[in-house]
Amino acid sequence: MATLVDTPLLLAGEAWADYGLVDSGNGRKLERYGPYRFIRPEPQAMWSPRLPDWQAAGEFVPGSDEDGGGRWQFDAPVPPAGWPLAWNDVRFTAQCTPFRHLGFFPDMAPVWEWMRGQLAGKADAQTLNLFGYTGVGTLALSECGPVTHVDASKKSVAQARENAAVSDTTERPVRWLVDDAAKFTAREVRRERRYDGIILDPPKFGRGPDGEVWRLEDGLPGLVSDCRRLLDADSRFLFLTVYAVRMSSLALGGLLAEVFADLPGTIEHGDLAMREEGEGGRLLPTAIFARWSNPG
Ligand SMILES: C[S@@+](CC[C@H](N)C(=O)[O-])C[C@H]1O[C@@H](n2cnc3c(N)ncnc32)[C@H](O)[C@@H]1O
Repeated sequence: MATLVDTPLLLAGEAWADYGLVDSGNGRKLERYGPYRFIRPEPQAMWSPRLPDWQAAGEFVPGSDEDGGGRWQFDAPVPPAGWPLAWNDVRFTAQCTPFRHLGFFPDMAPVWEWMRGQLAGKADAQTLNLFGYTGVGTLALSECGPVTHVDASKKSVAQARENAAVSDTTERPVRWLVDDAAKFTAREVRRERRYDGIILDPPKFGRGPDGEVWRLEDGLPGLVSDCRRLLDADSRFLFLTVYAVRMSSLALGGLLAEVFADLPGTIEHGDLAMREEGEGGRLLPTAIFARWSNPG
């Protein structure tokens, strides 16, 4: 049955043509998103910057509280409606959002890559992307077969659909759903649906479209158990990422080991990180993860 690998793994993202972590330090990071560079808060960058001077088009100046508040300060013109970027064959729009994000999560790139690898050779692979945000992960998976994209934010799902148009993949079978992830997944269990792969990237705290409250520590065990019931011995993976919580990846690994005890395969856990570009690039941790994989 599924075996848990105790030793944590490191899944490090590297720079690509349209994205790079240029430098980090003193609680901040300097990144490039296509033609523009931005400075954002990064508490885990406790070391000193390598570069003496950080030229950037904009900086996100945090507000008083950890999650919310704050604003962008621009030193050069940046298109408010966004600008086109690409990751491999996937094209999408980057944009400075009020929540200090740039419209997608570049540190998820090694996850998109790994999922595609897991589905290689499987025709019409059915996948589910819970907390899918602006859908870059969904577009990456849509190359392998039908995808169900679920997010509570109408705005994010609309942006995800626009990204499908930018990527010229609107003809691919994707269900774009505005829904509460836990409620949707429980409904899918009742419908006896089945998937070949599931990715979930839940926030620490969130709200469903009808105000459903999501708290990670409370909701995650039940949600992962329901996800297990949407998978079987022919399925290929479940990938769980968690960020901004006081938790070890070992805890996520332990949860998956219990939930996937009756299926073949392997359970791994560890850190997701981004490597600074250039010689001697340091690793900046971004999230923790656990995954179940089954060669099928
Ligand atoms: C960090 S983002 C996910 C990023 C995504 N995995 C990606 O790579 O683009 C978390 C997402 O969870 C969504 N969310 C928050 N609470 C939710 C809920 N109860 N049900 C579904 N989605 C929720 C938010 O709207 C947000 O888009």
